[in-house]
Amino acid sequence: MRIYREKDYEAMSRRAAQIIAAEIAHNPACLLGLATGSTPEGAYRYLVDWYKQGLLSFKDVRSVNLDEYVGLAPDHDQSYRYFMQSNLFDHVDIDPANTRVPDGLTRDAKAFCDEYDAFIRAQGYVDLQLLGIGRNGHIGFNEPGGCFVKETHVVDLAESTIDANARFFASRDDVPKQAISMGMGAIMGAKKVLLCASGEEKADAICGSVLGAISPSCPASILQLHPDVIVVVDEAAFSKLAAAGFQA
Ligand code: F6R
Repeated sequence: MRIYREKDYEAMSRRAAQIIAAEIAHNPACLLGLATGSTPEGAYRYLVDWYKQGLLSFKDVRSVNLDEYVGLAPDHDQSYRYFMQSNLFDHVDIDPANTRVPDGLTRDAKAFCDEYDAFIRAQGYVDLQLLGIGRNGHIGFNEPGGCFVKETHVVDLAESTIDANARFFASRDDVPKQAISMGMGAIMGAKKVLLCASGEEKADAICGSVLGAISPSCPASILQLHPDVIVVVDEAAFSKLAAAGFQA
């Protein structure tokens, strides 16, 4: 596990974008695993900027997203498909046919999830998986629980996740209660993982993930078992690791 300790959100975003851009330069037809939420917004901004400057192309890039809310249509402004279109896909030359976000309106979730995993497996897994982290240590929407779930699956969102995401909706009641999430099999199968976090409210989750016991009660702790993880955090998200004497 390599840890980059950056000054602030902007520096974290730039570093994450550099790592993603390097992956694309190295492998123009790479399969990127993508995340949504506040954390990667800045990195996507840098990537769009560099694309507009002619510094990189997404022409042959393929992508699979981690998750989607159950019940939200792709054109709902809080759906993760909408997020990806408005933060990245609509602004670069990626082929829309090469982008995948779980279908929040699927009528047969089990078949959909099996197909999602089969697709990822058939591609030889993701080349670079971008992850944010929940305050409770979730990655994708793999919430704390009694076991790590391997397959893409329908998740009941933790109350703390609904609280955290209520900021994007008109009211807490509007936050979907379920999501489809990639499981740990697809995440751990990725050749490289890029975990990003910013802000003091992520400091406990980052500390638990890097130094804590490997346990489904802190889902991101499973990344300690992955051979190629890059963690990019700002000072605030690093603060609990620093207090524990961790050097980076
Ligand atoms: C989003 C995702 C989630 C978020 C996490 C942090 O696709 O998989 O795990 O990364 O909830 O969200 P933010 O970045 O909004 O703090």
